[in-house]
Amino acid sequence: MKVLVTAGSKHGATYGIAEHIAKTLIDRSFEIELVDPAEVTDLTGYDAVVLGSAVYAGNWRKDAVEFAERFSADLQTLPVWIFSSGPLGDEDDNESALNQLDALMEDTGARSHTWFDGKLIKEDLSFAERAIVKVVGAPYGDFRDWDDIGAWAENIADELG
Ligand SMILES: Cc1cc2nc3c(=O)[nH]c(=O)nc-3n(C[C@H](O)[C@H](O)[C@H](O)COP(=O)(O)O)c2cc1C
Repeated sequence: MKVLVTAGSKHGATYGIAEHIAKTLIDRSFEIELVDPAEVTDLTGYDAVVLGSAVYAGNWRKDAVEFAERFSADLQTLPVWIFSSGPLGDEDDNESALNQLDALMEDTGARSHTWFDGKLIKEDLSFAERAIVKVVGAPYGDFRDWDDIGAWAENIADELG
């Protein structure tokens, strides 16, 4: 069974999450392609899709949103899971913090959406990004929980059988 894993990532944290999902599924004997959303031209041959994105100012990355819109018709016919990477530290009420969640669930027909804690490294950020981080008081660090991410991927493997 062949699974496409694809994620919109600006500074690499979400790509790392997608890699971990891919590795977990490979360990469960699935055939995986890990491709940037903008590079996917066709969903032919895939039996399932995992789509994710980093969240910036409440929004998914453009390449991930465009992927969901571009392949909406095909995605309705496949098992799809979507995830967001963003929250840093202990932020609450994350489901309402993604502006496009309803549209993304509709476009992808996803079985579920989940949040994963992200990563924020000062040296990676532009001056403008650092200023925003300062205003919102977000903490710097790598908050990605590999066990949490792996467990979510294991559930996907279980559902796909
Ligand atoms: C300027 C800026 C704005 C952000 N806005 C949000 C946000 O609205 N919601 C959220 O959960 N995380 C937000 N984050 C945190 C990022 O989504 C998080 O660092 C993520 O892991 C980055 O992923 P990437 O390295 O794949 O781009 C923001 C980070 C920056 C630098």
